[in-house]
Amino acid sequence: MKGKFRLQDFKKRKSEKKKICALTSYDYCTAHWLQKSGVDFILVGDSAGMVIYGESNTLNVRISDIVRHCRAVRKGAPQTFIVADMPFLSYQISAEKAIKNAGRMIADGGADAVKVEGGQAVIDKVKAILGAGIAVQGHIGLTPQSVSLFGGYRSQGRTAGEAEKLIKEAKMLEDAGVFSLVLEFIPYEVAANITGSVEIPTIGIGSGKECDGQILVTNDLLGLTPENIPRFAKQYASIGEEISQTASLYIDEVKNGSFPSEKETIHLEPESVKGFERDE
Ligand code: KIV
Repeated sequence: MKGKFRLQDFKKRKSEKKKICALTSYDYCTAHWLQKSGVDFILVGDSAGMVIYGESNTLNVRISDIVRHCRAVRKGAPQTFIVADMPFLSYQISAEKAIKNAGRMIADGGADAVKVEGGQAVIDKVKAILGAGIAVQGHIGLTPQSVSLFGGYRSQGRTAGEAEKLIKEAKMLEDAGVFSLVLEFIPYEVAANITGSVEIPTIGIGSGKECDGQILVTNDLLGLTPENIPRFAKQYASIGEEISQTASLYIDEVKNGSFPSEKETIHLEPESVKGFERDE
C-alpha cells in the first residue's frame, strides 16, 4: 500500500489525468483487504441498506448505522481516505441537523469526509456542513434517496433540460466547495460534459469512462449481491458462489466425520486423563 490518499490528491489526480479508484465497504475485514488493494478511497455507503440489510432501497438506513459501519471500516483501513454517506433525512431537514450528523461521521465514525446526495435542493445544507469545517463530496444524477421522486432507479439527465440542470448543479456544488462529485447513472455524453466543465474530479458509477474516477459497490464487484444488480455494475468475481461451495464442503465434512480431524482437536494431558476414565 502506498501513502494515504489525501483530500488535496483528488484535484491533483484530475490535473495529472490519473484515474481515482473507489469502492464501498461496511465492515472491518473487507476494509482491510480493500486497503491492501491500493484503492484510493472507501465509501461507507448507504447502499448498506440494500447489500447488508437486504432492504429494497436505502431509505431506512440510520445515521447510527453508518457511524457504526464507518468505525469498523476505519479500523480495517486506518491508512485509507474514508467518505461516510449521509443517510436519508440526516441532512435535508435543517442545516443544524446536517452539521450535527456530519460531525458524528467524523468524530465518532472516523471518516475523513461526508457525501451528500442532491444539488440545488440541498445546497444550503452542503454549505453549512462545509462551514463547520467538514469536507463534502457531492452526488448527482440517480440519487437513490430520491427514488420516490424518480419513480424507480432510472438513469437521469437523458433530456436536454435534465442534462442542463445536472451541469448547473455540478457547477453550483463546485462553487460551494465540494471536493469531488459522484455522477450516478447518467449518459456518457452528459458525464463527459460535466467532467470537462468542473475542476473538481468526477467519480462515475454507471456514467461512462470520461469521469475522472470510478466507484462500485464492492458486493456487486465481488459477486456477493444475489439479485437486482444494476446493469452498470461489472462483476469481477463470484465470491457468493465460492461462499456457498465452501460452506457445502464444510457441511459434507461435518456429516461424514472428517471435520474436526486430529489437527483441529485438543486432548487432555495424559496425567489428567485418569479422572475422566470411564467406570467399566
Ligand atoms: O451508497 C452508495 O454505495 C453510493 C454509491 C453507489 C456511490 O452512494
